[in-house]
Amino acid sequence: MAVSYLKRYASPKQTVFSQEDWSSAYCNVEKELEHAEIKLVRGSIPKQISGTFYRNGPGRLERGGQWVHHPFDGDGMIAAFKFKNGKINLTNRFVRTKEWKEEEESQKFLYRGVFGTQKEGGVLANAFDVRLKNIANTHVIKLGNDLLALWEASSPYSLNPNTLETNGLSDLKGVLKKGEAFSAHPRFDPGHHKEQRMVTFGVKTGPQSTIRLMEFSTEGEKVGSLLSDRKDSFNGFAFLHDFAITPNWAIFLQNAISFNPLPFLLGQKGAAQCLASKPNGTPKFLLIPRDCGKFAGTAPKTVKAPKGFVFHHLNAWEENETINVESIFYDDFPSIGPEDDFRNVDFDLLPEGVLKRCEINPNKNTFNCSTLSNQCCEFAMVNPHFEGRKARFSWMATAENKKGNGPLQAIKKFDSLNNEEISWSAAPKGFVSEPIFIPSQYSKTEEDNGWLVVLVWNSIRCGTDLIILDSKDMTEKAILEVPISIPHGLHGSWVND
Ligand code: CO
Repeated sequence: MAVSYLKRYASPKQTVFSQEDWSSAYCNVEKELEHAEIKLVRGSIPKQISGTFYRNGPGRLERGGQWVHHPFDGDGMIAAFKFKNGKINLTNRFVRTKEWKEEEESQKFLYRGVFGTQKEGGVLANAFDVRLKNIANTHVIKLGNDLLALWEASSPYSLNPNTLETNGLSDLKGVLKKGEAFSAHPRFDPGHHKEQRMVTFGVKTGPQSTIRLMEFSTEGEKVGSLLSDRKDSFNGFAFLHDFAITPNWAIFLQNAISFNPLPFLLGQKGAAQCLASKPNGTPKFLLIPRDCGKFAGTAPKTVKAPKGFVFHHLNAWEENETINVESIFYDDFPSIGPEDDFRNVDFDLLPEGVLKRCEINPNKNTFNCSTLSNQCCEFAMVNPHFEGRKARFSWMATAENKKGNGPLQAIKKFDSLNNEEISWSAAPKGFVSEPIFIPSQYSKTEEDNGWLVVLVWNSIRCGTDLIILDSKDMTEKAILEVPISIPHGLHGSWVND
């Protein structure tokens, strides 16, 4: 592994991360900037990169001296890094949700968070308040003229893609009912059915769960219009954060999870804290035929899945009868107790994410699962032109060590053909987030030709750095100092000019 750009600041004895350095990223974003130029510290910004890197994540973690119970309860803050002619400028804004505005005015938490943040006044003040605060903090994508801040349990917020001003909640031209769930993990079909599409879903959970699968046009005159729409119901509670697509299928993994809402109703726990793994439950793949594919209109298929828990998938593709899906598996569901402090999380006690491939035969109702890499990883992606078809390369955030759990400190390129990997590391003083792959415009066929952009928490100066890597050999192209401090975040996307 290459020597980290922050290594020279660490004491020679320090080889592993310190909990204090890692948790120093949990802070409020204090400023909103408009087209602020960001300082280049090392290297140069490739002039061919032209477009915007949008990033969402929790930006407000404390109000009036009270901290959120879990960072996922922090209000969504969007950062837009605009690349032009070898320069980058930054605009950042909180999503002006109804709840953010009310809390901003009163300077205290007025709503319960899904991950356990409570209002002042103890259990009694929280009991039977089942309002969910839409914090719009999970992902950000552009659809037509709208920038959408996504949060899976409710509808998206629409923002102006240039100024990041909030337009308000969006029903996507009448597609969504008021407050309807809309996933934070759309997939972009690069053109398996001629035009490019955004494929996404919403889940209505209960003893029986219903998945609404929607496809939207992403180009031309019809941009933003609904192209297809179907609903399918499945037995059992379904916690579905992400999914994968192939030309003919939408692939979901229904984890063996139960939901007991009682502690939530009684004001003791947040809704997500009421999720628990069912040790004897059987996880299932839910395979829904896409309306533009060759199985359009047929019933979905359910296939037994391996034990474990999955938040995120990497990619999926079809090969004859087989559907292949690559996912990040955990041994168990990482629950958040009411007494836990997120800053003191003991990484050694939590299961690590492992990249696995499942070959599913929907006709024989069988699967075959193999491990691609044991190194703890998260936030994996392929070249977006390869979404839904077999990709050789992927890029992901990983722990520094090859074994065991740890905070994400390195970015890895994985070659599934030769089982080879190259990493770039920010350890021991730096902490990475989701890498976003920007394909080179000049080479659409060369799968690994392009760049990666990553935000890194630099614990030396308690600030955020923007790193640009060459996606082929993982060398550093540029390091920039971002003028705001952004906590460990969630998902982002790249939009070409
Ligand atoms: Co996610």
